Amino acid sequence: MKLWGGRFTKPTNQLVEEYTASIGFDQRLAEEDIRGSMAHVRMLGACGILTEEETKTILSGLETIRERIHRGEVSFSVENEDIHMNIEKLLIEEIGPVGGKLHTGRSRNDQVALDMHLYVRHQTVELVRLLVGVQEALIAQAEAHVDTILPGYTHLQRAQPVRLAHHLLAYVSMFQRDIERLIDSYKRVNISPLGAGAIAGTTFPIDRHMVAEELGFDEIYDNSMDAVSDRDFLVEFLSIASLIMVHLSRLSEELILWSSEEFGYIELDDAFCTGSSMMPQKKNPDVPELIRGKTGRVIGHLVALLTALKALPLTYNKDMQEDKEGVFDTVDTLTGALALTAPMLSSMKVNVEKMRENAQSGFANATDLADYLVKKGLPFREAHEVVGRLVLHCLEQGKTLTDCELAEFKAASPLIEADVYEAIQLERVVDARNISGGTGRQAILAAIEDKKSKIDETHTWLDHVIS
Ligand code: ARG
Repeated sequence: MKLWGGRFTKPTNQLVEEYTASIGFDQRLAEEDIRGSMAHVRMLGACGILTEEETKTILSGLETIRERIHRGEVSFSVENEDIHMNIEKLLIEEIGPVGGKLHTGRSRNDQVALDMHLYVRHQTVELVRLLVGVQEALIAQAEAHVDTILPGYTHLQRAQPVRLAHHLLAYVSMFQRDIERLIDSYKRVNISPLGAGAIAGTTFPIDRHMVAEELGFDEIYDNSMDAVSDRDFLVEFLSIASLIMVHLSRLSEELILWSSEEFGYIELDDAFCTGSSMMPQKKNPDVPELIRGKTGRVIGHLVALLTALKALPLTYNKDMQEDKEGVFDTVDTLTGALALTAPMLSSMKVNVEKMRENAQSGFANATDLADYLVKKGLPFREAHEVVGRLVLHCLEQGKTLTDCELAEFKAASPLIEADVYEAIQLERVVDARNISGGTGRQAILAAIEDKKSKIDETHTWLDHVIS
């Protein structure tokens, strides 16, 4: 007999049962569902809607079911459709008909919304924790490589030399924005929908604030129709997750490129690579490749949910059941990627010489020679032209700017003097960019301190937040 069977004259078609059931995936919400039910029952007791005896019986029944689920003793059934009705059925089996009082003043519509709020709140906090871990791994490498210089690229062509720390800190900044987005979204997640009932509230004199407080919510939804049909918080979660994956994917792409023989900038630790079944020499960067590859599915989940919601009339529609698998898969994908990225970064070896060689062997100091001429009074546009011609000359001769004789410099522009060699020397070039946000040594040291204090702020948030 179905929990909602009263109005029906026939059993459900078997295929319909399988098609509409969500228990296959929403059993992941068992803990949240029981926590929510316990808070609801305590409130019903406190408001005199259930007797003290009934309240105690239902609470201990729920506790027993929670333990049985933890011990793996429970098998959920498709006939009971979803986690909410499975647990209610188990409760009634456990404590008898009084278990049927659990659902007083509640609907699965506000119940499922509550479960998802609890679930996403916890995952939001866990993602912040993992992101800080990645930031810390990046900062540690940055501190070890303040004086490692490599070419910075635009269009994947050597552009200007930068400190490796500067390059890594760019990712710390990206992940900082991700953390701030998650922290900001938390306040839209941490709202209780319970008490909205199916759509319009309930006739019982329940205390919505009491449940909200017990579950650690900051406030309650102020409109019951919004409460049961709002999935914005899931869209926001998937959107933030997509952007984090995009950031991880860009980082992964660089790790893949940099560990190629062509670049030879880094070597990923053996523990984070895999081999080829045919080619004995191969050591493949599968982990960053998979992170890059899995980014598509997370973005897909965001698009799928937006599409599912776009034409839904108020309020609850069964389409909304489609919100779950994408969110769960996103959590798994992102958690896996973040958990691997931190140790992969900490354990990678940097080929300092190769980076320096590439920074030196090209024309990454060409802008500096132009700036040198500008400081001697030449308009920048003319300086650009002079240096361009000199670069062409060097390419023909197979040399770099630093290899040029003073006479060659003079032939390019009489403004150039012997001090040019110092002006285009690698460290000088890098440290000439000491403005804040630049790649100069002092600027980098200040940036590291700044990021560390942001990390401290995140830890303080993590220490106090309810998850
Ligand atoms: N399994 C449903 C879901 O995930 C729970 C809510 C069902 N509500 C309903 N009125 N059928 O959305």
